[in-house]
Amino acid sequence: MVGPGLVLLATLCSILLGAFVWAVSEHFLTTDVPSTLRQPAKLRFLHCLFLSMVTLGNITEKLGICSMPRFIQFLQDTLRIKKDHRLVVTNLHFGTIPVRLFQPMAASPSPQRGFIFFHGGASVCGSLDVYHNLCSFLSLETDSVLLSVGYRKLPDHHDPVIFRNCLNASIHFLKALETYGVDPSRVVICGDSVGGGYGALISQVLVGRSDLPPIRAQVLIYPVLQVINLQLPSYQQNQNVPFLTQKLMLTCLFRYLIVDFSWRDAILSGAFIPPEVWKKYSKWLSRDNIPKRFQRPGCPPVFPAPFNEDAYLENQHFLDVEISPLLRDNETLARLPEAFLVSCENDILRDDTLLYKKRLEDQGVPVTWYHVEDGFHGALILFDKQPLSFPCSLKTMNAVTTYIRGIL
Ligand SMILES: *[C@@H]1O[C@H](CO)[C@@H](O)[C@H](O)[C@H]1NC(C)=O
Ligand SMILES: *[C@@H]1O[C@H](CO)[C@@H](O)[C@H](O)[C@H]1NC(C)=O
Ligand SMILES: *[C@@H]1O[C@H](CO)[C@@H](O)[C@H](O)[C@H]1NC(C)=O
Repeated sequence: MVGPGLVLLATLCSILLGAFVWAVSEHFLTTDVPSTLRQPAKLRFLHCLFLSMVTLGNITEKLGICSMPRFIQFLQDTLRIKKDHRLVVTNLHFGTIPVRLFQPMAASPSPQRGFIFFHGGASVCGSLDVYHNLCSFLSLETDSVLLSVGYRKLPDHHDPVIFRNCLNASIHFLKALETYGVDPSRVVICGDSVGGGYGALISQVLVGRSDLPPIRAQVLIYPVLQVINLQLPSYQQNQNVPFLTQKLMLTCLFRYLIVDFSWRDAILSGAFIPPEVWKKYSKWLSRDNIPKRFQRPGCPPVFPAPFNEDAYLENQHFLDVEISPLLRDNETLARLPEAFLVSCENDILRDDTLLYKKRLEDQGVPVTWYHVEDGFHGALILFDKQPLSFPCSLKTMNAVTTYIRGIL
């Protein structure tokens, strides 16, 4: 039966090729690669591969085979994880939440640092496996007992599942520090991208919990901190820069928050924000808080656009502090642990970090800011993927571990 097999193979190959050609044209028609990014050809190639994956996912979704997020998760799970004999790695469940514990073998007799890590991936990709090597590195380099949280995500789970899972897992860990040999005065919360946003949120929610040891520091790597002002300078300057383009960001955000795509323009332009709400929050969220050197010359859009009440009624959850932790009150912020904030120049989310930095500093929270001029969103996860890694990937990882070793 060579015939049908060959036909099937040929069909499959043409679909793969077609998706790649589509992705390449999509890339060259819509993507910007700023001159500060190093190794641009490699970045373009990786972005084309990534777009092919999303395109194939879109196709399997249209055909009713599986949704785009599940298709991407299926592909990412074929990545290999590196076993490191210097670590004991244990898969556990806290309640129903899958977590992975990394414990350095060469443990000092005294209790060790503790590290709670929330991975990124826009609630579509990322997993315990995808972040395995990164967590191994952090655990070894900072000599910490590291907890990586495998929170639930798309396509089956939506807001607020990530928040709840991250909070439950953190509380569970903080109550059991002794069991894991962790010094309760040396626990750090860390995350990248979506995980960085939840790192900020969980740090806020744990403020004042006298039944738990206080968090010593928060490390937020290109975090998502608000979904209200999507016209900040970085949102304009970097809207077409890989890997988190505006289009991808909105696709993931709208799915996770269950928002109809027809609200795209009302949300992008800020038309869903009631004038009195904007009056209250503009002192924290307006572009006036972004230092001049990050603003491009030219005429910024008028923000927010005229109020659209229907858009507000359906999407008011965007204004919740659990989705936009940048809106947290002064009093809570003032009690937060010190922060290490990483922003990338070529990242649509750069200004979330700049705004949070200002809010924390205004409340007297010590902030160490690490700005990566040649950085882009998603660079971190490539740190050990030679030859696909970028200079900024390892540089950022080393900055994080140096900071942690320096403070605790
Ligand atoms: C995949 O589909 C989404 C809509 O669900 C669309 O916004 C996106 O552009 C598509 N991506 C590609 C690479 O075709
Ligand atoms: C999280 O913890 C609360 C209370 O401790 C519990 O009621 C809830 O079921 C937990 N959720 C998950 C997903 O484990
Ligand atoms: C919060 O802190 C900022 C900066 O110190 C201050 O301008 C503002 O008035 C404070 N209070 C509120 C409710 O925003």
